[in-house]
Amino acid sequence: MAAGVRELLAACPVVLAPMEDVTDAPFRAACRSVGAELCVTEFVAAEQLVADAARAKARAAIAADTGPTAIQIYGPDPALLLAAARVAAAARPAFVDINCGCWVPKIVARGAGAAWLRAPEAMVAMARAIASALAPEGMQVTVKTRIGWGPGPDMPIVELARRLEDAGVAALAVHCRTALAGHTGAADWSWAARAREAVAIPVVVNGDVQTAEQAARALAETGCAGVMIGRAAIAHPWIFREARAAIAGAPVVGPTERERLALYRALTVDNAATRGDVAGVAVTRRHLAILGPLAPALRATLFRAPTLTGTLAILDDDSSLRSLSRLATIAP
Ligand SMILES: Cc1cc2nc3c(=O)[nH]c(=O)nc-3n(C[C@H](O)[C@H](O)[C@H](O)COP(=O)(O)O)c2cc1C
Repeated sequence: MAAGVRELLAACPVVLAPMEDVTDAPFRAACRSVGAELCVTEFVAAEQLVADAARAKARAAIAADTGPTAIQIYGPDPALLLAAARVAAAARPAFVDINCGCWVPKIVARGAGAAWLRAPEAMVAMARAIASALAPEGMQVTVKTRIGWGPGPDMPIVELARRLEDAGVAALAVHCRTALAGHTGAADWSWAARAREAVAIPVVVNGDVQTAEQAARALAETGCAGVMIGRAAIAHPWIFREARAAIAGAPVVGPTERERLALYRALTVDNAATRGDVAGVAVTRRHLAILGPLAPALRATLFRAPTLTGTLAILDDDSSLRSLSRLATIAP
């Protein structure tokens, strides 16, 4: 059997969060090149995976990954989730994760994602069925959820964590907000700490970790086995390298401008190879902030270059880059 979730988290406690339309293979590779190890795919619709739909297959494709990647599935139907979990497990991911935390209205309206929090009995039964079905093949199942549906001061996450552990779930990732909060308000990591105290399985704290220092603090404050980072990685994938340094008590060293250009370039090339030139270039622009202080000066020219060749010409043109005022320091 491959390393279990506990061992994986012990070795790689800083996890790339699942993010739809973000944590695809090229972005996971970009994050891995700057310190991420354990990654999760974007969520994959159970019924699409079972139907062998192209979109689901692409989302669940992990063959090119050079490190451990979990496949996350979502859906409202326990039988379809179980069937999808079997399909996902056949790809031999690090583990199979079940999304019980997505707050997006169209997902919740179907009874998927965070809607499971409104039916905890059913959630636990669904998780138990999937965990026990996959156990004989040595595939662990985890759940990513929120502290509760909300509102209210008392959150079900602590009791839920106990019940999910009893159901055979191997680890739990807790986005420390309610479903009703969406992405508003501050994440309250103390709920991850309370859940962690209640169970023996690893708990991963998630929500509002924006810097390496916060990653180290989230682990220290909660005692969790791992910390999961989402949005901060979109603009700054180096957060994984930096967080590992902060956790080790080593100096946190940010990227140089050359590293920024190289990562943006690699992501563009990878996205173009995966999606085609124009779509690849367009999708990479979402990560323009990777260029950091170079982004304001390069934004206009990059947005005028729809093709891979044009984009690479801009990124590779040292003379014009040097002429940008902030780039006087670019040197090999
Ligand atoms: C664009 C975007 C897409 C997301 N897609 C998913 C998803 O597919 N599955 C999931 O469990 N969470 C998803 N999330 C939630 C994140 O995994 C994470 O729980 C949340 O953003 C809080 O962490 P952060 O503050 O580090 O971003 C998504 C978040 C964003 C911003």
